Amino acid sequence: MYNFVFQNTTKLIFGKGTISTLAQEIPAGKKLMITFGGGSVKSNGVYEEVVKALQGREFIEFWGIEPNPTVETIRKAVEIGKKEGIGYLLAVGGGSVIDGTKLIASSILLERDPWDIVRKGAELDKVIPYASVLTLPATGSEMNRGSVISNREKREKFAFYTNSPEFSILDPVTTFSLPDYQVACGIADTFVHVMEQYLTTTSQSPLMDRWAEGILLTLKEIAPTITKDHTNYDAMATFMLSATMALNGFIAMGVTQDWATHQIGHELTALAGITHGHSLAVVLPGTMDIRRNEKGDKILQYGQRVWGITAKEDTEEAKSKAIDQIIEKSEEFFRSLGLKTRLSENSIGEDVVNEIVKRFKERDVHFGENRMNDYMVTEKILNRVK
Ligand code: NZQ
Ligand code: ZN
Repeated sequence: MYNFVFQNTTKLIFGKGTISTLAQEIPAGKKLMITFGGGSVKSNGVYEEVVKALQGREFIEFWGIEPNPTVETIRKAVEIGKKEGIGYLLAVGGGSVIDGTKLIASSILLERDPWDIVRKGAELDKVIPYASVLTLPATGSEMNRGSVISNREKREKFAFYTNSPEFSILDPVTTFSLPDYQVACGIADTFVHVMEQYLTTTSQSPLMDRWAEGILLTLKEIAPTITKDHTNYDAMATFMLSATMALNGFIAMGVTQDWATHQIGHELTALAGITHGHSLAVVLPGTMDIRRNEKGDKILQYGQRVWGITAKEDTEEAKSKAIDQIIEKSEEFFRSLGLKTRLSENSIGEDVVNEIVKRFKERDVHFGENRMNDYMVTEKILNRVK
């Protein structure tokens, strides 16, 4: 196990009816801006609940933070925030609204363009406090420091890091209105978050391994229920907590991480518009296969403990066969959610693959565990999932 420092300061407020506690949590005396997406919160009643909870408090509203939030939209919110002297932000929505709000919070006190903050980093002592009411389990953004922002003009998508939310309210009832596709993408995103922190080198931390496997097994267990019925409170609550626990630092203590699948997935979204969780379901089987020599032992551990697949004998041939089955099983799991797992099925052609390879070559990227992936490996991964 490597040395590590762990700190997560986000207060988690979880359960039915908890939106009503908002006024207690948001300090009075700070000018408040509430941020929203495209309107799902109006049709499912969450907007009304928030407004009711904040009765008697003054706030302004900013609408229109889109899925894969763009810097172009965030610039508009920052301009309003500066003009109004906003001192506290509340994001109400999915990961995109929260991520966009993280960039607004990181920009209001600075005279820097938000894209510059995404590319060169936030100034943590100049981030205004913010919180969230989460409506879509997937990203973990409600309890982490990450934010992923797109640039429409440049067709780019990059992550940056800032302070984590002061608090996040997670009421599973808010997820009942999710479309099937968003639930499927949320399960895939959560699953791959765990894999990015787990599918590395074996024996770094048995405790982290068991926690990670616990989340994967939980997702496997609840997926058949929640893909069919998003109104099962206990199952949706389990999903919501799984998504938070998958990316709030709890399974990453003292272990190496990978994130190659995400780095490639972000390019697919930036260039072809595919939804984030879906892009990962396409890429992960490719990353596993192309890195099977380096990650073979961990793939076998994952296969045995999560899917019950073991090598029949202690030979390289038998192990290789088991690895094939494990990769196939992982892809099958994503397909069981209703996601198409090949680029061609998602109308993503060679032009997109070529552009990603070209970008990675120009950027001279070396990413993933031990920085072992470059543009040539990326090409192999994408060709594997054509
Ligand atoms: O915009 P509205 O109208 O609210 O509708 C949204 C949106 O269309 C809808 N939705 C959300 N909650 C709903 C609902 N519809 C009905 N009922 C509800 N309860 O769902 C659509 C997608 O929402 P979005 O916020 O885009 O989804 P998600 O939470 O998956 O966020 C995706 C973004 O997060 C980034 C992704 O790259 C992507 O940009 N990520 C952020 C991470 C982080 N901050 O740590 C890590 C992740 O790996 C990921 O990269
Ligand atoms: Zn993700």
